[in-house]
Amino acid sequence: MPHMFIPGPVDVPAEVLDAQTAPMLPHRSPEFEAIFQRAAERSRQLFYTQFRVFLTASSGTGLQEAAVRNFARQEALVCVNGAFANRWYDVAVSNGRAADKIELPWDQPITPEGVYAALKSKHYEMLAVVHNETSTGLQNPVAQIAEAVRAASPDTLICVDAVSSLGGAKIEMDAWGLDMVLTSSQKCLALPPGLGLGAVSDRALAYAESVPQRGWYFDLVRMEKHRLKDSTPATPALPLIYALDAQLERIEREGLEQRFERHRRMAERVQNWALEHGLALFAPQGYRSQTVTTLVTPTGVEVGALNQFLLGRGMRIANGYGALKGKTFRIAHMGETQPEQIEELLAALEAYLEERR
Ligand SMILES: Cc1ncc(COP(=O)(O)O)c(C=O)c1O
Repeated sequence: MPHMFIPGPVDVPAEVLDAQTAPMLPHRSPEFEAIFQRAAERSRQLFYTQFRVFLTASSGTGLQEAAVRNFARQEALVCVNGAFANRWYDVAVSNGRAADKIELPWDQPITPEGVYAALKSKHYEMLAVVHNETSTGLQNPVAQIAEAVRAASPDTLICVDAVSSLGGAKIEMDAWGLDMVLTSSQKCLALPPGLGLGAVSDRALAYAESVPQRGWYFDLVRMEKHRLKDSTPATPALPLIYALDAQLERIEREGLEQRFERHRRMAERVQNWALEHGLALFAPQGYRSQTVTTLVTPTGVEVGALNQFLLGRGMRIANGYGALKGKTFRIAHMGETQPEQIEELLAALEAYLEERR
């Protein structure tokens, strides 16, 4: 199988894939509850939080929905500078919330100043921001944005989508004062798709109790009651919990700081390589992602043909997302990808581009 340099799903280590084949257990049994408890507790280190982590049988979008259903009766402010933030806005509106947007061109970061001004002009129960826009390879300055939120409107709950960065870049939920941080299993955590991980603060959970119509499946208050008994309201995705348990063990063996550093070095290498070879990067300097790089497609190159060439060499990259399809292409350096594999990819890319100069 070709190595996946796409921003999720990514390759899953064989040991983690194998963990999924363990026999099923009754989900309300002491044996399974012990595994669930261990995985949920250990997951907290990924978020740098003392609060709880909910494990949901859903992809990350489910937790975007959980955020708006639980933390906004009406007023949500969504910071939009990419496709996945825009999805979060759509999720809010389709759940009947009167959401507003701060909207910026996709190659510009959300600024703390813009957020401060928006929150001073109107009160919002929650603010939603994407840390790492997978569509553009742009990383928003979430720590500074959170500071601006607290200065402008201390009771506004700060919700962060870290779907393509948690486990690949350091996100310090408690130190940054975040109320919810959500992610999916299939990206930096290098697990199969289908599991959502969402860390939630005490004050956010207390606020949720006052929000009517939180729904059922993603009602965090209900989930918390079950979590305290090491369980979930509905049947959890057992094989994925087994896989998470095994992968957390591996991640601990590597060390979180070492893992972030590996991602940072790979990002630096890809981005420097691109600039040295006259390729433009979509995201501006200072805001480039540590886990996925978006490159502007050079004239004369067709992304589909480039990928065919790479597939012949056992590698797969991603086309641009949505409106950026064809105009850009993406190289993910997340999960278990190693610097040597990045070198192989860059050598192949270089060979391809050389032929076309
Ligand atoms: C930043 C971001 N948010 C949300 C999503 C949606 O996640 P999922 O596909 O796990 O629902 C993605 C998916 O790529 C993403 O990259």
